[in-house]
Amino acid sequence: MYPILEKRELSPSVKLFVVQAPAIAKKCQPGQFIILRMDEAGERIPLTIADFNRQKGTITLIFQEVGCSTRHLGRLGAGDSILDVAGPLGQATHIEKFGTVVCIGGGIGVAPVYPIARAYHEAGNKVISIIGARNAELLIMEDEMRQVSESLHITTDDGSKGRKGLVIDPLKELIAAGEDIRLVMAIGPVIMMKSVAEVTRPHSIKTLVSLNPIMVDGTGMCGGCRVSVANKNKFACVDGPEFDGHEVDFVGLMARQRMYHEAERIEREAGSCSCHH
Ligand SMILES: Cc1cc2nc3c(=O)[nH]c(=O)nc-3n(C[C@H](O)[C@H](O)[C@H](O)COP(=O)(O)OP(=O)(O)OC[C@H]3O[C@@H](n4cnc5c(N)ncnc54)[C@H](O)[C@@H]3O)c2cc1C
Ligand code: FES
Repeated sequence: MYPILEKRELSPSVKLFVVQAPAIAKKCQPGQFIILRMDEAGERIPLTIADFNRQKGTITLIFQEVGCSTRHLGRLGAGDSILDVAGPLGQATHIEKFGTVVCIGGGIGVAPVYPIARAYHEAGNKVISIIGARNAELLIMEDEMRQVSESLHITTDDGSKGRKGLVIDPLKELIAAGEDIRLVMAIGPVIMMKSVAEVTRPHSIKTLVSLNPIMVDGTGMCGGCRVSVANKNKFACVDGPEFDGHEVDFVGLMARQRMYHEAERIEREAGSCSCHH
């Protein structure tokens, strides 16, 4: 069992858990994730390790309640335990001193981008961060991102915080101003990562994206997380989750993510759910 030591509500639908998981905290690296199962009846939920403390043996998970399993998970609190936490899974982010690195987080994507931005910062890079959300209430981790960034740009779709617009707007301006960007790391909705890759492609700025296709086993065996990268099949759970954004087939990825939408709608309307809660 993995005890939840702390729970915080970052926004009405975004929760933060600090979980006791010493073996994972000991070896996890920025960019990696875990798969948890709340209890015997629970679905397997992949979540990025948003932070870790090796001394205390804890990992931090930040998740958005989007469907049945994450809503049930969100009802747990400090003092409760999670049945299984498997990890660390996936390839760690390659960290070195590149120069100027732009870290972009959209919505819940700010959570996974944070430990990566921090690691780039600690490696001596000039980190410029851009975080965005639909509105101010959904914007998370502003203070944490500011601490590891030389400058932080905030955008919201409705203008309720920062500037009104999309995360690609400040990125376009940085490029136009001649900022010598060596790497862009973007994590967020697929459509956002696709747009970022389209902005950087003509300028040949290396762009990494972290993909979140449907995952089941997390071991490369089930094929659930298959993505096409440079016209080759890759499994996001073992080959990723990070890939070169200029090589990802985003259109195929979006189609695969929609695969279960109809089944999820039917479950929602019937008031039942596949995680048996
Ligand atoms: C490597 C990885 C890291 C992730 N990190 C985070 C994170 O740090 N914070 C966070 O909030 N979310 C993260 N996710 C997404 C999270 O796993 C899903 O939101 C969650 O599984 C949805 O479960 P649900 O039953 O609540 O929703 P459902 O009703 O089952 O689904 C809602 C939507 O979530 C997506 N989804 C459902 N099941 C999965 C699955 N097994 N794998 C991936 N996507 C799924 C689908 O797009 C679906 O339409 C990550 C996903 C991956 C693959
Ligand atoms: S989740 Fe099964 S192959 Fe990646």
